[in-house]
Amino acid sequence: MPAFTRRSFMTVAAGVAAHLVATPTTAQGQRALRDAADKTGLLYGSAAAAKFLTVDEQYADLLAKQASILVCEAETKRKALQPAPDRYDFNAADTIFRFAQKNGQKMRGHTFVWHDAMPEWLIDALDQKPRDTIITDYISTVAKRYRGRVHSWDVVNEVINIEDRAPGFMRTSSPWYKAFGESYIDIAFHAAKQADPDAILFLNELNTEANERWSANIRKGTLDLLDRLLKRNVPVEAVGIQAHLKTFRTAYSDEVFSQFLDEIGSRGLKVMITEMDLADSDGPADPEQRDDAIASLAKRFLNVAFSKPHTLGCITWGITDKYSWLNSTPKYQRADGQLCRSLPFDVNYQPKRLVDTMLASYGLRAK
Ligand code: G3I
Repeated sequence: MPAFTRRSFMTVAAGVAAHLVATPTTAQGQRALRDAADKTGLLYGSAAAAKFLTVDEQYADLLAKQASILVCEAETKRKALQPAPDRYDFNAADTIFRFAQKNGQKMRGHTFVWHDAMPEWLIDALDQKPRDTIITDYISTVAKRYRGRVHSWDVVNEVINIEDRAPGFMRTSSPWYKAFGESYIDIAFHAAKQADPDAILFLNELNTEANERWSANIRKGTLDLLDRLLKRNVPVEAVGIQAHLKTFRTAYSDEVFSQFLDEIGSRGLKVMITEMDLADSDGPADPEQRDDAIASLAKRFLNVAFSKPHTLGCITWGITDKYSWLNSTPKYQRADGQLCRSLPFDVNYQPKRLVDTMLASYGLRAK
């Protein structure tokens, strides 16, 4: 396999663009992912971090050109937005919302209710068995501030956890579950619907994609929970498939993934790939071999996802390897000290084979 170069990216991008709609920008390969996605009606987007946007022009430029939708990696989590019970701080989130507006990009909201990234005061308050308003006041404040600018909200995040060994695989160790039982999910969705009726309301879930027994349990837990929510008329409208794929660690099956997406669709719900990256911590030392394996898994995965009419698009959890969370997370760091190559662009902002396969997957949907 020849080395992948910027030139090959241009050639592929131009080729894909040519049979979509040729515009001067796509022909130069400048906005390849964004344009390829635009032609299909699907979205392509990335997580963004305000702390890099404000200091790194190349990063900002890449995000502006390639992404049609952004999501804050940290800035719209409760720890960032409500550092004290009586104090909100929207500065960092506003930076990203302003950037998206300037560049004609949609925004996702991530996330109202999560067991992680909670301010200390909130953990203490939940321990005291608080009233519903600890959920509803927050959602109302945040959702109303950004109403009209948010494509979709992750209303709840990672509510299934097989390690808790609980009925229905629910995350019973979550402070939210301990305070409210499962009803915190209902309360959150109703509050979100009331505060921003036009945003698509997501249940965002982790580790649903692997062809492994534990992942099958997560899928079952997710589908059973959706059935209970829908029966109770909870306004859940879509499922976020995070897709933190472990290229060399877990098995993947097109058929299993396809069936799961069909199950979601049969319930009248939309799907979106919300946090895709492809960890390569256990892969070989040769970066080319890792890039090949990553690209080939992404191709299989996205081709299945994009074959479904209820799929809305794909977001990668960052755009350049330079700022991937995997590189600062011990369980994903490589023993040989090399950085992970899990995202579309490398540390020097150059496109990798992953970009080629993503363009081809979007291209398939366009036909
Ligand atoms: O803000 C503090 C800063 O004040 C402090 O100096 C610094 C010292 O380490 O830490 C900063 O907080 C970090 C935060 O990211 C903001 O950058 C936390 O340590 C770090 O744990 C946190 O990690 C994020 C994690 O969610 C928890 O919020 C990752 O960057 C982010 O990629 C990750 O994203 C999650 C999704 O939200 C949900 N799905 C899984 C995904 C990956 O874990």
